Amino acid sequence: MRSSIILPAAALIPSAAANFHDLAVAAGKLYFGSATDNGELSDEPYVAILSNTSEYGQITPGNGQKWQYTEPTRGQFDYTSGDEIVDFATTNGQNIFRCHTLVWHSQLPDWVSSGSWTAAELTEIIQTHIANVAGHYAGQCYSWDVVNEALDEDGTMRKSVFSEVMGTDFLGVAFKAAAEADPDAKLYYNDYNLEWAGDKSQAVIDTIIPAIQDAGARIDGVGCQAHLQVGNTPPRADLASTLQSYIAAGVTEVAYTELDIRFPSLPPDDAGLAQQGDDYAAVVGACLDVEACVGVTVWDITDKYSWIPDVFPGEGAALLYDEDLAKKPAWTSVSSVLAAAATAAL
Ligand code: XIL
Repeated sequence: MRSSIILPAAALIPSAAANFHDLAVAAGKLYFGSATDNGELSDEPYVAILSNTSEYGQITPGNGQKWQYTEPTRGQFDYTSGDEIVDFATTNGQNIFRCHTLVWHSQLPDWVSSGSWTAAELTEIIQTHIANVAGHYAGQCYSWDVVNEALDEDGTMRKSVFSEVMGTDFLGVAFKAAAEADPDAKLYYNDYNLEWAGDKSQAVIDTIIPAIQDAGARIDGVGCQAHLQVGNTPPRADLASTLQSYIAAGVTEVAYTELDIRFPSLPPDDAGLAQQGDDYAAVVGACLDVEACVGVTVWDITDKYSWIPDVFPGEGAALLYDEDLAKKPAWTSVSSVLAAAATAAL
Protein backbone atom coordinates (compact mmCIF):
# COMPACT_ATOMS: atom_id res chain seq x y z
CA MET A 1 0.00 0.00 0.00
CA ARG A 2 1.25 3.46 -0.79
CA SER A 3 1.86 5.86 2.04
CA SER A 4 -0.74 8.58 2.37
CA ILE A 5 1.90 11.00 3.62
CA ILE A 6 2.62 13.49 0.86
CA LEU A 7 6.33 13.96 0.43
CA PRO A 8 7.92 16.28 -2.08
CA ALA A 9 8.85 14.24 -5.14
CA ALA A 10 12.51 15.07 -4.62
CA ALA A 11 12.47 13.14 -1.36
CA LEU A 12 11.25 10.03 -3.13
CA ILE A 13 13.16 10.02 -6.37
CA PRO A 14 16.45 8.20 -5.84
CA SER A 15 19.17 10.82 -5.65
CA ALA A 16 21.66 11.44 -8.42
CA ALA A 17 24.16 9.34 -6.48
CA ALA A 18 21.71 6.44 -6.32
CA ASN A 19 22.83 3.67 -8.52
CA PHE A 20 22.13 0.20 -9.91
CA HIS A 21 21.29 -1.44 -6.59
CA ASP A 22 19.40 1.50 -5.07
CA LEU A 23 17.51 2.02 -8.30
CA ALA A 24 16.68 -1.69 -8.62
CA VAL A 25 15.34 -1.70 -5.07
CA ALA A 26 13.32 1.46 -5.73
CA ALA A 27 11.88 -0.33 -8.77
CA GLY A 28 10.78 -3.27 -6.60
CA LYS A 29 13.68 -5.69 -7.15
CA LEU A 30 15.70 -7.24 -4.34
CA TYR A 31 19.15 -6.38 -5.65
CA PHE A 32 21.59 -5.51 -8.39
CA GLY A 33 24.86 -7.31 -7.79
CA SER A 34 28.16 -8.64 -9.06
CA ALA A 35 30.43 -11.61 -8.85
CA THR A 36 33.93 -11.03 -7.60
CA ASP A 37 37.00 -13.12 -6.96
CA ASN A 38 39.71 -13.42 -4.35
CA GLY A 39 42.62 -12.27 -6.48
CA GLU A 40 40.88 -8.98 -7.28
CA LEU A 41 40.37 -7.80 -3.73
CA SER A 42 43.84 -6.24 -3.50
CA ASP A 43 43.09 -3.91 -6.45
CA GLU A 44 42.10 -0.76 -4.58
CA PRO A 45 40.51 1.25 -7.42
CA TYR A 46 38.48 -1.84 -8.37
CA VAL A 47 37.46 -2.49 -4.79
CA ALA A 48 36.35 1.12 -4.39
CA ILE A 49 33.81 0.68 -7.19
CA LEU A 50 32.68 -2.80 -6.18
CA SER A 51 32.23 -1.75 -2.54
CA ASN A 52 29.77 0.99 -3.41
CA THR A 53 26.61 -0.53 -1.93
CA SER A 54 24.49 1.93 -3.83
CA GLU A 55 25.75 0.33 -7.05
CA TYR A 56 26.15 -3.34 -5.94
CA GLY A 57 24.03 -4.66 -3.10
CA GLN A 58 24.57 -8.34 -3.82
CA ILE A 59 27.75 -10.39 -4.21
CA THR A 60 28.46 -13.81 -5.71
CA PRO A 61 31.81 -15.53 -5.07
CA GLY A 62 33.08 -16.21 -8.60
CA ASN A 63 35.03 -19.33 -7.63
CA GLY A 64 35.60 -19.80 -3.91
CA GLN A 65 32.57 -21.92 -3.06
CA LYS A 66 33.06 -24.44 -5.87
CA TRP A 67 33.73 -28.11 -5.07
CA GLN A 68 37.34 -27.86 -6.27
CA TYR A 69 38.06 -25.39 -3.47
CA THR A 70 35.65 -26.49 -0.75
CA GLU A 71 36.31 -30.25 -0.79
CA PRO A 72 39.50 -30.78 -2.82
CA THR A 73 40.09 -34.08 -1.01
CA ARG A 74 37.28 -36.32 0.14
CA GLY A 75 36.07 -35.29 3.57
CA GLN A 76 38.49 -32.34 3.89
CA PHE A 77 36.69 -29.05 3.70
CA ASP A 78 38.26 -25.66 3.10
CA TYR A 79 36.23 -22.46 3.21
CA THR A 80 39.11 -19.99 3.03
CA SER A 81 38.36 -18.53 -0.41
CA GLY A 82 34.59 -18.41 -0.03
CA ASP A 83 34.84 -16.93 3.45
CA GLU A 84 37.16 -14.18 2.22
CA ILE A 85 34.52 -12.98 -0.24
CA VAL A 86 31.68 -13.27 2.24
CA ASP A 87 33.67 -11.40 4.91
CA PHE A 88 34.68 -8.69 2.44
CA ALA A 89 31.09 -8.11 1.33
CA THR A 90 29.65 -8.30 4.83
CA THR A 91 32.10 -5.66 6.00
CA ASN A 92 30.88 -3.44 3.15
CA GLY A 93 27.26 -3.99 4.15
CA GLN A 94 26.61 -6.09 1.03
CA ASN A 95 24.62 -8.76 2.81
CA ILE A 96 22.82 -10.47 -0.05
CA PHE A 97 24.83 -13.47 -1.22
CA ARG A 98 24.08 -15.66 -4.17
CA CYS A 99 26.06 -18.70 -3.11
CA HIS A 100 27.57 -20.61 -6.02
CA THR A 101 27.62 -23.61 -6.57
CA LEU A 102 27.11 -27.08 -5.02
CA VAL A 103 26.83 -29.67 -7.81
CA TRP A 104 28.54 -28.92 -11.13
CA HIS A 105 30.45 -31.07 -13.61
CA SER A 106 33.14 -28.39 -13.95
CA GLN A 107 35.74 -27.34 -11.38
CA LEU A 108 35.00 -30.70 -9.79
CA PRO A 109 37.97 -32.46 -8.20
CA ASP A 110 39.25 -35.62 -9.86
CA TRP A 111 38.44 -37.70 -6.84
CA VAL A 112 34.74 -37.16 -7.64
CA SER A 113 34.79 -37.16 -11.44
CA SER A 114 37.08 -40.13 -11.95
CA GLY A 115 35.73 -42.40 -9.23
CA SER A 116 33.72 -45.45 -10.25
CA TRP A 117 30.80 -45.01 -7.89
CA THR A 118 27.59 -46.85 -7.31
CA ALA A 119 24.51 -44.64 -7.14
CA ALA A 120 24.42 -45.14 -3.36
CA GLU A 121 28.04 -44.05 -2.99
CA LEU A 122 27.64 -40.97 -5.15
CA THR A 123 24.43 -40.06 -3.31
CA GLU A 124 26.36 -40.11 -0.07
CA ILE A 125 29.18 -38.03 -1.55
CA ILE A 126 26.71 -35.37 -2.75
CA GLN A 127 24.88 -35.37 0.58
CA THR A 128 28.09 -35.03 2.59
CA HIS A 129 29.42 -32.26 0.34
CA ILE A 130 26.21 -30.25 0.57
CA ALA A 131 25.67 -30.86 4.30
CA ASN A 132 29.13 -29.45 4.96
CA VAL A 133 29.36 -26.59 2.46
CA ALA A 134 25.77 -25.34 2.66
CA GLY A 135 25.92 -26.07 6.40
CA HIS A 136 29.01 -23.88 6.78
CA TYR A 137 27.28 -20.94 5.08
CA ALA A 138 23.84 -21.63 6.56
CA GLY A 139 21.91 -18.46 7.27
CA GLN A 140 24.27 -16.33 5.15
CA CYS A 141 23.13 -17.18 1.63
CA TYR A 142 20.13 -15.51 0.07
CA SER A 143 20.22 -18.33 -2.46
CA TRP A 144 22.26 -21.35 -3.51
CA ASP A 145 22.87 -22.45 -7.07
CA VAL A 146 22.30 -26.04 -5.98
CA VAL A 147 22.85 -27.57 -9.41
CA ASN A 148 24.69 -25.78 -12.20
CA GLU A 149 24.66 -26.53 -15.94
CA ALA A 150 23.14 -30.03 -15.93
CA LEU A 151 21.72 -29.70 -19.46
CA ASP A 152 23.12 -29.97 -22.96
CA GLU A 153 22.02 -27.58 -25.70
CA ASP A 154 19.54 -30.10 -27.13
CA GLY A 155 17.78 -30.40 -23.80
CA THR A 156 19.16 -33.79 -22.84
CA MET A 157 21.04 -34.29 -19.60
CA ARG A 158 24.69 -33.34 -19.88
CA LYS A 159 27.06 -36.27 -19.60
CA SER A 160 28.78 -36.05 -16.20
CA VAL A 161 29.67 -38.39 -13.39
CA PHE A 162 26.41 -37.33 -11.77
CA SER A 163 24.09 -38.10 -14.71
CA GLU A 164 25.99 -41.21 -15.76
CA VAL A 165 25.75 -42.82 -12.35
CA MET A 166 22.40 -41.43 -11.16
CA GLY A 167 20.42 -40.30 -14.22
CA THR A 168 18.26 -37.39 -13.07
CA ASP A 169 18.14 -38.67 -9.49
CA PHE A 170 21.06 -36.50 -8.43
CA LEU A 171 18.86 -33.44 -8.84
CA GLY A 172 16.42 -34.42 -6.09
CA VAL A 173 19.23 -35.66 -3.86
CA ALA A 174 21.06 -32.34 -4.17
CA PHE A 175 18.02 -30.11 -3.62
CA LYS A 176 16.88 -32.16 -0.61
CA ALA A 177 20.33 -31.96 0.96
CA ALA A 178 20.52 -28.20 0.38
CA ALA A 179 17.10 -27.64 1.97
CA GLU A 180 18.19 -29.61 5.00
CA ALA A 181 21.50 -27.82 5.38
CA ASP A 182 20.16 -24.29 4.89
CA PRO A 183 16.36 -24.23 5.16
CA ASP A 184 16.08 -20.47 4.55
CA ALA A 185 18.13 -20.26 1.35
CA LYS A 186 16.32 -20.05 -1.97
CA LEU A 187 17.31 -23.08 -4.00
CA TYR A 188 18.12 -22.52 -7.68
CA TYR A 189 18.81 -24.47 -10.81
CA ASN A 190 21.31 -22.31 -12.76
CA ASP A 191 22.39 -22.63 -16.41
CA TYR A 192 23.38 -20.70 -19.55
CA ASN A 193 21.39 -20.31 -22.77
CA LEU A 194 18.17 -20.35 -20.76
CA GLU A 195 17.34 -16.76 -21.68
CA TRP A 196 15.27 -17.61 -24.76
CA ALA A 197 12.70 -20.27 -25.59
CA GLY A 198 14.30 -23.38 -27.06
CA ASP A 199 15.20 -26.99 -26.34
CA LYS A 200 17.23 -26.11 -23.29
CA SER A 201 14.68 -23.83 -21.63
CA GLN A 202 12.00 -26.41 -22.40
CA ALA A 203 14.08 -29.07 -20.66
CA VAL A 204 14.17 -26.96 -17.49
CA ILE A 205 10.38 -26.97 -17.64
CA ASP A 206 9.91 -30.60 -18.70
CA THR A 207 12.83 -32.35 -17.00
CA ILE A 208 14.66 -30.37 -14.33
CA ILE A 209 11.81 -28.85 -12.32
CA PRO A 210 9.65 -32.03 -12.38
CA ALA A 211 12.59 -34.29 -11.48
CA ILE A 212 13.24 -32.22 -8.36
CA GLN A 213 9.60 -31.85 -7.37
CA ASP A 214 8.74 -35.50 -8.08
CA ALA A 215 11.56 -36.50 -5.73
CA GLY A 216 9.75 -34.56 -3.00
CA ALA A 217 12.33 -31.78 -2.99
CA ARG A 218 11.91 -28.02 -3.21
CA ILE A 219 13.18 -25.79 -6.03
CA ASP A 220 12.56 -22.07 -5.61
CA GLY A 221 14.23 -20.52 -8.60
CA VAL A 222 15.71 -20.75 -12.06
CA GLY A 223 18.88 -18.76 -12.65
CA CYS A 224 19.55 -17.64 -16.21
CA GLN A 225 23.30 -17.05 -16.36
CA ALA A 226 22.97 -14.69 -19.34
CA HIS A 227 26.39 -15.05 -20.94
CA LEU A 228 25.24 -13.31 -24.11
CA GLN A 229 26.69 -11.81 -27.29
CA VAL A 230 26.43 -8.24 -28.52
CA GLY A 231 23.88 -8.02 -31.34
CA ASN A 232 22.63 -11.52 -30.58
CA THR A 233 20.71 -10.81 -27.40
CA PRO A 234 16.97 -11.51 -27.60
CA PRO A 235 14.53 -8.58 -27.38
CA ARG A 236 13.30 -7.50 -23.93
CA ALA A 237 9.80 -8.94 -24.45
CA ASP A 238 11.15 -12.36 -25.47
CA LEU A 239 13.52 -12.43 -22.52
CA ALA A 240 10.65 -11.52 -20.19
CA SER A 241 8.31 -14.17 -21.57
CA THR A 242 10.98 -16.84 -21.12
CA LEU A 243 11.47 -15.78 -17.49
CA GLN A 244 7.71 -16.00 -17.08
CA SER A 245 7.67 -19.53 -18.52
CA TYR A 246 9.75 -20.77 -15.57
CA ILE A 247 7.35 -19.21 -13.11
CA ALA A 248 4.47 -20.90 -14.93
CA ALA A 249 6.37 -24.19 -14.59
CA GLY A 250 6.33 -24.02 -10.81
CA VAL A 251 9.20 -21.97 -9.36
CA THR A 252 8.55 -18.82 -7.38
CA GLU A 253 11.40 -16.68 -8.63
CA VAL A 254 13.93 -16.15 -11.40
CA ALA A 255 17.09 -14.08 -11.76
CA TYR A 256 19.83 -13.18 -14.23
CA THR A 257 22.79 -14.60 -12.36
CA GLU A 258 26.00 -14.13 -14.39
CA LEU A 259 25.25 -11.40 -16.90
CA ASP A 260 27.91 -10.41 -19.40
CA ILE A 261 27.49 -9.49 -23.08
CA ARG A 262 30.63 -10.11 -25.09
CA PHE A 263 31.88 -8.91 -28.45
CA PRO A 264 32.63 -11.75 -30.87
CA SER A 265 35.63 -9.79 -32.13
CA LEU A 266 37.71 -6.99 -30.67
CA PRO A 267 38.12 -4.12 -30.29
CA PRO A 268 34.53 -2.83 -30.27
CA ASP A 269 33.68 0.33 -32.23
CA ASP A 270 31.29 3.06 -31.07
CA ALA A 271 28.28 1.50 -32.78
CA GLY A 272 29.10 -1.80 -31.11
CA LEU A 273 29.36 -0.20 -27.70
CA ALA A 274 25.97 1.45 -28.23
CA GLN A 275 24.50 -1.91 -29.27
CA GLN A 276 25.98 -3.49 -26.15
CA GLY A 277 24.18 -0.83 -24.12
CA ASP A 278 20.88 -1.68 -25.80
CA ASP A 279 21.45 -5.38 -25.15
CA TYR A 280 22.18 -4.78 -21.47
CA ALA A 281 19.06 -2.61 -21.22
CA ALA A 282 16.98 -5.42 -22.76
CA VAL A 283 18.16 -7.93 -20.16
CA VAL A 284 17.80 -5.64 -17.15
CA GLY A 285 14.49 -4.42 -18.58
CA ALA A 286 13.18 -7.98 -18.85
CA CYS A 287 13.90 -8.54 -15.16
CA LEU A 288 12.10 -5.29 -14.37
CA ASP A 289 9.11 -6.44 -16.43
CA VAL A 290 8.69 -9.73 -14.57
CA GLU A 291 7.57 -9.34 -10.99
CA ALA A 292 9.09 -12.66 -9.90
CA CYS A 293 12.54 -11.69 -11.22
CA VAL A 294 14.40 -10.79 -8.03
CA GLY A 295 17.52 -9.23 -9.48
CA VAL A 296 20.43 -9.08 -11.87
CA THR A 297 24.02 -10.09 -11.16
CA VAL A 298 26.85 -9.16 -13.52
CA TRP A 299 29.74 -11.63 -13.78
CA ASP A 300 32.12 -9.02 -12.40
CA ILE A 301 32.16 -5.33 -13.11
CA THR A 302 35.17 -4.73 -15.34
CA ASP A 303 36.67 -6.15 -18.52
CA LYS A 304 39.91 -6.28 -16.54
CA TYR A 305 38.60 -9.29 -14.62
CA SER A 306 36.20 -10.90 -17.08
CA TRP A 307 36.46 -14.68 -17.53
CA ILE A 308 35.49 -14.40 -21.23
CA PRO A 309 38.90 -13.98 -22.94
CA ASP A 310 40.20 -17.11 -21.20
CA VAL A 311 37.34 -19.28 -22.40
CA PHE A 312 36.36 -17.60 -25.70
CA PRO A 313 39.68 -16.52 -27.24
CA GLY A 314 39.40 -13.32 -29.26
CA GLU A 315 36.08 -12.36 -27.65
CA GLY A 316 35.47 -10.05 -24.72
CA ALA A 317 34.84 -6.47 -23.58
CA ALA A 318 31.70 -7.95 -22.06
CA LEU A 319 31.22 -5.89 -18.89
CA LEU A 320 30.11 -2.44 -17.75
CA TYR A 321 33.54 -0.93 -17.04
CA ASP A 322 36.47 -1.20 -19.42
CA GLU A 323 39.93 -2.53 -18.53
CA ASP A 324 40.90 0.87 -17.11
CA LEU A 325 37.81 0.99 -14.91
CA ALA A 326 36.12 3.64 -17.07
CA LYS A 327 32.35 3.41 -17.45
CA LYS A 328 31.22 2.12 -20.84
CA PRO A 329 28.04 3.20 -22.67
CA ALA A 330 26.39 0.03 -21.30
CA TRP A 331 26.86 1.40 -17.78
CA THR A 332 24.74 4.41 -18.69
CA SER A 333 22.13 2.22 -20.41
CA VAL A 334 21.72 0.04 -17.33
CA SER A 335 21.52 3.05 -15.06
CA SER A 336 18.89 4.67 -17.31
CA VAL A 337 16.64 1.65 -17.60
CA LEU A 338 16.73 1.18 -13.83
CA ALA A 339 16.15 4.88 -13.14
CA ALA A 340 13.14 4.90 -15.45
CA ALA A 341 11.63 1.95 -13.59
CA ALA A 342 12.45 3.45 -10.19
CA THR A 343 10.75 6.70 -11.14
CA ALA A 344 7.74 4.89 -12.59
CA ALA A 345 7.37 2.94 -9.33
CA LEU A 346 6.92 6.11 -7.26
C1 XIL B 1 34.03 -19.04 -14.19
C2 XIL B 1 34.94 -18.11 -13.41
O1 XIL B 1 34.57 -16.78 -13.62
C3 XIL B 1 36.38 -18.34 -13.84
O2 XIL B 1 37.26 -17.58 -13.02
C4 XIL B 1 36.74 -19.81 -13.72
O3 XIL B 1 38.04 -20.03 -14.22
C5 XIL B 1 35.75 -20.66 -14.52
O4 XIL B 1 34.43 -20.38 -14.05
N1 XIL B 1 29.32 -20.45 -15.52
C6 XIL B 1 29.40 -20.48 -14.15
C7 XIL B 1 30.53 -19.82 -13.45
O5 XIL B 1 28.46 -20.97 -13.48
O6 XIL B 1 30.89 -20.46 -12.27
C8 XIL B 1 31.72 -19.68 -14.38
O7 XIL B 1 32.72 -18.93 -13.70
C9 XIL B 1 31.33 -19.05 -15.69
C10 XIL B 1 30.32 -19.90 -16.40
